[in-house]
Amino acid sequence: MDDQTVFKMDEPVGETRLDTAAQGLIGKPLDRFEGPLKVSGRAPYAYENLAGDPDVAFGYLVLSGTGAGTIRSVDTSAAEKAPGVLAVIHDDNGPRASADPNDQRPAAIKGEVVHFGQPICVVVAETYEQARDAARLVKVDVETKEGQYDLLANRDRAHKAQNGAMQAEVTKGDFDTAYANAEVTLDVTYTTPSQSHSAMEPHAATAKWDGDELTIFGCYQLVSTNVGQLAKTLGIPKSKVRMLNPYIGGGFGGKLGIGPESVFAAIAARQLGRPVKIALTRQQVYQATSRRSDTIQRLRLGTTRDGRITALAHDTITSNSPGDEFFEPTGISTVFLYAGENRQITHKLAELNLLLSSSMRAPGEAVGMLALENAMDEMAEKLGLDPIEFRRRNEPEVDPQDGKPFSSRSLVQCMEEGAKRFDWANRPKAPASRREGEWLIGMGMAAASRKNLLQQSSAAISLSSDGRCVVSTDMTDIGTGTYTILQQIAAEILGLPREQVIVKLGDSDLPQAPGSGGSWGANSAGSSVFVAAEGVVAKIAEKLGVKPDEVTMKDGTAIAHNKQTPLAEILKGETITVTGTFKPGRTFKDTHQASYGAHFCEVAVNAVTGETRVRRLLTVAAAGRILNEKTATSQCYGGQIFGIGSALTEELVVDTRTGLLVNHDLAEYHVPVNADVPQLEVVLLPERDRIASPLAGKGIGELAICGVGAAVTNAVYNACGVRVRDYPMTLDKIL
Ligand code: MOS
Repeated sequence: MDDQTVFKMDEPVGETRLDTAAQGLIGKPLDRFEGPLKVSGRAPYAYENLAGDPDVAFGYLVLSGTGAGTIRSVDTSAAEKAPGVLAVIHDDNGPRASADPNDQRPAAIKGEVVHFGQPICVVVAETYEQARDAARLVKVDVETKEGQYDLLANRDRAHKAQNGAMQAEVTKGDFDTAYANAEVTLDVTYTTPSQSHSAMEPHAATAKWDGDELTIFGCYQLVSTNVGQLAKTLGIPKSKVRMLNPYIGGGFGGKLGIGPESVFAAIAARQLGRPVKIALTRQQVYQATSRRSDTIQRLRLGTTRDGRITALAHDTITSNSPGDEFFEPTGISTVFLYAGENRQITHKLAELNLLLSSSMRAPGEAVGMLALENAMDEMAEKLGLDPIEFRRRNEPEVDPQDGKPFSSRSLVQCMEEGAKRFDWANRPKAPASRREGEWLIGMGMAAASRKNLLQQSSAAISLSSDGRCVVSTDMTDIGTGTYTILQQIAAEILGLPREQVIVKLGDSDLPQAPGSGGSWGANSAGSSVFVAAEGVVAKIAEKLGVKPDEVTMKDGTAIAHNKQTPLAEILKGETITVTGTFKPGRTFKDTHQASYGAHFCEVAVNAVTGETRVRRLLTVAAAGRILNEKTATSQCYGGQIFGIGSALTEELVVDTRTGLLVNHDLAEYHVPVNADVPQLEVVLLPERDRIASPLAGKGIGELAICGVGAAVTNAVYNACGVRVRDYPMTLDKIL
């Protein structure tokens, strides 16, 4: 018997079973049980499905070697004659799959090349090697046009962005007048480069048709959204697409939307009547999926002499490919992080012939706070204030834009705790004042904040008489720990040993979750598991003739009115199934919700070579109740490492003559390696946010990346007195 239960959160949720259950599973630093499967090759990824099926054919994409132009012809004759080739599929009107989940357009631009690396056609052969070999024989004749590849050169051509992940313009009061009248002012411009997600698992898909029904094994973060995108692109109903993504090797936003691999695999499989697999090479991932936009960010701060912000402007220019309207929302945190009556936060978009720019790890804040938190450091110095004290003086009581109360906000506590642990009081007070041989030592800090984005989510729980429990939802686990966290929640509420709870994810046939994105995954999907599990408890209570509140679930039994009854006796061979749906309600609308943190960094900068070594990095974070200390901490480690890369090395280099991304692999695109990363420290402050979710939690996934790069560059400034405003802060810019 199936039951539905819906919970819309219109009021704060008080104490729950998560607070009172005997096992105390919530928050425990439990291992991700799919981790060993992934690192030992036992978790099948998209490309590994249908392994050994002799019917499977292999596709290899041919990408544009031109940055801009019109396709005159695609000569496939030589490729078609190559050994093993089954078909070369191309269509001038073919799909340019969008990696932006907000963008549901098929985005076909007839016969036009809009960026270097744009997929042109697919060669399908009996083996991968044959397809790859034949792909070299395809001749694409393009009438080239002058392309636009350089954001700086196109800054004046930028137009006001369309509202997207945030409003393109957020203003309050009269910035210009307040800035003109401010006692102390700062006007600085920062630039950040395009970046690549560089997930461990390159994009891949395996497609198989049964009649008019498509099964796609993919690697995407948002199953139901991705099914919709694929169905729309293929021109078939959503109900005809089944997507399976149970294991994903990282995403970082690069897999929020479908990529060309699944579109071409589906088209090729349909045409050939055989299953088709396509894997992008690492180089193709860099060139043909999506990137984080480059940005130009102008920060203006006006303050009183004692450091109260009276005027704040953050004006950004970002880029995207022709016709794509997503903009990097750099100002998200600037809207609410600091006080100030007169504000102006704007975003413009310049059209460049580069691949799609889309969401990457903390879209907006991750690079917006590189600028904001660097500017705060510059202003603190101008004012002669400790950077923490400057931030404290501008701590708003309520959301400074619209006056909503914060659901919880522990920024000051995070800064204070971090300062204590990092011995901030003993930092070098003046730049370039501490030296160890040829190394200059400096310390810097920055705030972190990431908006809490709660989403509707559903999950089903089946509980059998023998105490076996199955949690199922189309939620994904991209390496973040979803399997383990959902298991913890269900086991805790139902009083079951963890091992008896099986979690099924990543299948579009299962109840719809919002997927992994925007740091909403654990909190949203977890809340739906909470609702479903409470629904199961309610059914048990009904059978016992008591109220749900009177039931304690423990050790595979239900205790009520001093009587302990085993589940087998209550269920008598029956299986209870409840689908729970969680919906954000008034509490979400009526409050401003975000997670907060503070980063502290110590660097050594070599006075001879300009080399920066990060010596210590501490992040103190507060994100409501932590569901699993280990997975939450790991997410923060990831953010810290990302931040070191953003500050010092990460940069997609564009050949501005051709639009080629020059460093399109992990050898040349420099993410930090072990030798670049010191022992990292993460401290999670205890916090309960009863307004934010029934779990009392907020998002933490992307929190730590926000601001951390600025802590690094602020430390570099403190070490050597060089303020580099163009990220990344490579050696040449420091010397
Ligand atoms: Mo994240 S950029 O929403 O995967």
